[in-house]
Amino acid sequence: MPIKKIIAFGSAKGGVGKSSITASIALCLSKTKSVGVLDADIYGPNQNILFEISEKATFDDNKSIRPIKKNNIEVISIGSILDQDKAAAWRGPMLSRAIKQLINSTEWSDLDYLLIDMPPGTGDAYLTVFNEIKVNHFILVTTLNALAISDAKKTISLLEKLDVDILGYISNNIINFEDVLNKNYFIEKNIKNLGNFNFDKNIYNFDINYESQDALDITTTIEANV
Ligand SMILES: Nc1ncnc2c1ncn2[C@@H]1O[C@H](COP(=O)(O)OP(=O)(O)OP(=O)(O)O)[C@@H](O)[C@H]1O
Ligand SMILES: [Mg+2]
Repeated sequence: MPIKKIIAFGSAKGGVGKSSITASIALCLSKTKSVGVLDADIYGPNQNILFEISEKATFDDNKSIRPIKKNNIEVISIGSILDQDKAAAWRGPMLSRAIKQLINSTEWSDLDYLLIDMPPGTGDAYLTVFNEIKVNHFILVTTLNALAISDAKKTISLLEKLDVDILGYISNNIINFEDVLNKNYFIEKNIKNLGNFNFDKNIYNFDINYESQDALDITTTIEANV
């Protein structure tokens, strides 16, 4: 795959902003770079919704999948392949097969960055993504409350086992609450803070033309560190 850098965004805790932040950073990067987004969330695909993609993905020779281009970003999500409103009621092996197909069969252009939006949890999706593809960096997205940090620890321990580089963490102030607790864990583990997303109505009602200052700042930091 002609991709220069692959960066996964994740955290075991659900609903902390992984998908919104992945899409926001993709938008900022795409101003100067060629960018793709791979939605690795098979049970709850969101990238097709965030990028307002209504068309279905097309297949060449019934094999390779053509990603859908939106705002100059190439996006592939199982939500553009299956019926968005139906749940993929699949067990682990089927889930892994679907992720493998998205990874191995998508015909990306030459990309500077491929961003992967990871699902919550620490299950099959992690093992499949990190075994199938050389992910250069992982960015942890988290709120700073105790429950999210507790789940973040699980994510970090799994990434350490899988020997994945952790570029740093982004804290998401999703509930508009000045939360300065619980940073000690990251300091102890020497995990860098890449920036903070503030509560933002435009993120809540995701607008694909909106670049927040937080997203721009974090994008600059990411580019300086990869
Ligand atoms: N900084 C923010 N300001 C306002 N709303 C936000 C912010 N970040 C995320 N949200 C909102 O919080 C909700 C959860 O965000 P999102 O779906 O991106 O999280 P997630 O971690 O990807 O969830 P999941 O674990 O289900 O994949 C969404 O409704 C989103 O619009
Ligand atoms: Mg998500």
